[in-house]
Amino acid sequence: MSLAQQIERRRTFAIISHPDAGKTTLTEKLLLFGGAIQAAGEVKARGERRRARSDWMKVEQERGISVASSVMTFDYLERTFNLLDTPGHEDFSEDTYRTLSAVDSAVMVLDAAKGIETQTRKLFEVCRLRDMPIATFINKMDRETKDPFELLDEVEQTLALDVAPASWPIGMGRDFKGCYDLIHDQLILFDRGKGDSISESIKCQGLDDPKLDELLPDYAVEKLRTDVEMVRELCPQFNLKDYLEGTLTPVFFGSAVNNFGVQELLAGLADFAPRPRAGKALERQVAPDEGKVTAFVFKIQANMDPKHRDRIAFVRVVSGRFKKGIKMKHVRSGKTLAIHNAQLFLAQDRAVAEEAYPGDIIGLPNHGNLRIGDTLTEGEMIRFTGVPSFAPEILQKVRPEDPMKAKHLGRALEQLAEEGAARVFKPALGSDWVVGVVGPLQFDVLADRIRTEYEVPCRFEATSLMTAEWVEGDPREIKKFSDQNRASMAVDHAGAPVYLARNNWHLDKAKDDFPSLKFLKTKEEV
Ligand code: G4P
Repeated sequence: MSLAQQIERRRTFAIISHPDAGKTTLTEKLLLFGGAIQAAGEVKARGERRRARSDWMKVEQERGISVASSVMTFDYLERTFNLLDTPGHEDFSEDTYRTLSAVDSAVMVLDAAKGIETQTRKLFEVCRLRDMPIATFINKMDRETKDPFELLDEVEQTLALDVAPASWPIGMGRDFKGCYDLIHDQLILFDRGKGDSISESIKCQGLDDPKLDELLPDYAVEKLRTDVEMVRELCPQFNLKDYLEGTLTPVFFGSAVNNFGVQELLAGLADFAPRPRAGKALERQVAPDEGKVTAFVFKIQANMDPKHRDRIAFVRVVSGRFKKGIKMKHVRSGKTLAIHNAQLFLAQDRAVAEEAYPGDIIGLPNHGNLRIGDTLTEGEMIRFTGVPSFAPEILQKVRPEDPMKAKHLGRALEQLAEEGAARVFKPALGSDWVVGVVGPLQFDVLADRIRTEYEVPCRFEATSLMTAEWVEGDPREIKKFSDQNRASMAVDHAGAPVYLARNNWHLDKAKDDFPSLKFLKTKEEV
């Protein structure tokens, strides 16, 4: 297959949702259709096996949240889908945001009884910043739900997004009969209790087809006809341009746990979801069909398999045909890496990547030389942008329970910082480390991981620090500033100077005294 054909068949997307809306269930059903797994329940089962292996995931288990995100590749309708899983809990949103920088579109899952929830909204905002196309799946139609018109209105009003129903539900809860597929003019009947099988679709000649009267009770047909008339009057028709620009979302109704509506969603994605986009580098745009391979790191995960102490950089291929053994330039260090052991993420397992194409995600095992935001090329010195970095909002001190283990703790923290799990600062004075995170739950996870993966029991303690800001500017000015403020200076894991401010007054004074320096809440990961 030519490079152009490989690009054409790729669809790389993520599912965004509030916890409990049904993301895991939907993922599982998508993989089932994609033939990537044989029976529903495997995604969870796999999750449980993983949990059994790695202790820190106890936190995940205890709190019922999913922490680690991963990638699943499957084929369906002559497309290769790369589904990037994202953690749903808000304390782990940094990871989610970075994952969104590596996809071309998103599926937003809503619980039909709840509509838009806080986390859906936040994640949606990130997608909007990137003008990312979003398809909507309104889940749990087999339960009592909000009125479908109300749900559409909520999406339209709260997200300022045009809605174009791709299907329309017939009844809800105990009375849920199925959906009418508005794109293909067909009826899909809901068959309760057919967990893993596929609901049949019945081709109709429009809504007046007498088949509808045969298959559905009178009241349901009547309601369907008036509803659809209203939908067609009130909602815009699906149009590809607006969807691709991120201003209109096609809406599918379904019930993931009953395998209903999932096939229509997947067919929709195969049909209209965007193929891999061009990459934005500081220097220029990189088109996917350029002959040379380029890629960027959007996530690092350490110790995916504690037995091997491995560290995997998740890399999105932007352009070219990646082949096993290819030599790639690591732009930040200028070093050349021969890549023999890139991994592909299949739903069941990891496999060595012989080839990969734009839109694909490959995993590169490494020992810490790859960092989030890094660019890989076949020699050109370009740097991709857009992998976001977040300001640490809560700062705590950490120290090992056994003071002899300070060095070990330092190493663990450094690795976790490179992985992007937290910001880590080493103050110029004293022996403690300061750790900054976005959500407080991250401290629990960190403490647990440091104990189990690095065997260093440690304690986090509150500090009186308000914020950590990176200091940039003329090196001589920075040195002068550091010398005058030694008690408040630190370096991050990469050695960059950071000012630890106790309060706003403290920070403002620093800015006033050194007007030529820049104080930054985040640091671009390039
Ligand atoms: P998440 O990843 O977004 O957090 O959600 P997940 O898929 O784990 O689903 C949350 C709960 O909602 C699960 O129930 C799941 O079975 C249920 N669910 C998902 N889709 C549907 C649907 O279409 N209809 C109904 N009625 N329920 C649905 P649970 O009790 O938390 O877990 P489980 O024991 O059933 O697995």
